[in-house]
Amino acid sequence: MNGDVVRVAAVGDLHCGKASPGVFQPLFTRMTESADVVVMCGDLTDYGLPEEARVLAREVGGALKLPIVAVFGNHDYESGCADEVRALLADAGVRVLDGDGVEIRGVGFAGVKGFAGGFGDRALQSWGEPVLKSFVREAVEEALKLETALARLRTPRRIAVLHYSPIRATVETEPAEILPFLGSSRLEDPINRYNVTLVVHGHAHHGAPEGRTTTGVPVYNVSVPVLRAAFPEQPTFRLFEIPVAGEAAVPAVGTP
Ligand SMILES: [Fe+2]
Ligand SMILES: [Fe+2]
Repeated sequence: MNGDVVRVAAVGDLHCGKASPGVFQPLFTRMTESADVVVMCGDLTDYGLPEEARVLAREVGGALKLPIVAVFGNHDYESGCADEVRALLADAGVRVLDGDGVEIRGVGFAGVKGFAGGFGDRALQSWGEPVLKSFVREAVEEALKLETALARLRTPRRIAVLHYSPIRATVETEPAEILPFLGSSRLEDPINRYNVTLVVHGHAHHGAPEGRTTTGVPVYNVSVPVLRAAFPEQPTFRLFEIPVAGEAAVPAVGTP
């Protein structure tokens, strides 16, 4: 920590595979040199396999000497081993949030994977076949989990950590056919209402690096391919300086 600023390094879509030993050491070393906290925005592993989680855990243990906050992405659920993957990463100090929050050095982090369904007036609605209603219900429940996590934070500065995007702007450079699968506007409502400082997400590998919610909350797509394309000369993470000086803790928003 440098004075009254907390430096947060964010990256998404590491997609750690069985053949990744050593791949992340330079990245994690640069993060350790540059930041106070690290945020990982899902797709931590490629297939959600315990073997992959063990590789990532060893990479983290070898070079990343900071508090680490993460959420899972869709890839981390692929093999049905999410609990084991979570436990392996926890042993390496990676705290995977799923509808809960954590406060580190005066900054609050609320984390949830999020889900798909599309954006704005064209978002998928809960109508018709039961399977379609289940799909929409997943997005609604993820938004409620985000709201719950934000409501519990007492810090004046709050960062929302997602895998799926809450806005169209950071995914709209993707093919139009897949936009509804890259995020959901349902996630945007709690972000706006709880006065979030900034949002980081991944998932859209060919999305745009920055956008804003309808109330002006900055949203950053920190997916590795997006950062490589947008900032080819920079290390592959985004660094945010969060001021924390002289700000008293605030009561949770929206609680009785
Ligand atoms: Fe990904
Ligand atoms: Fe993803």
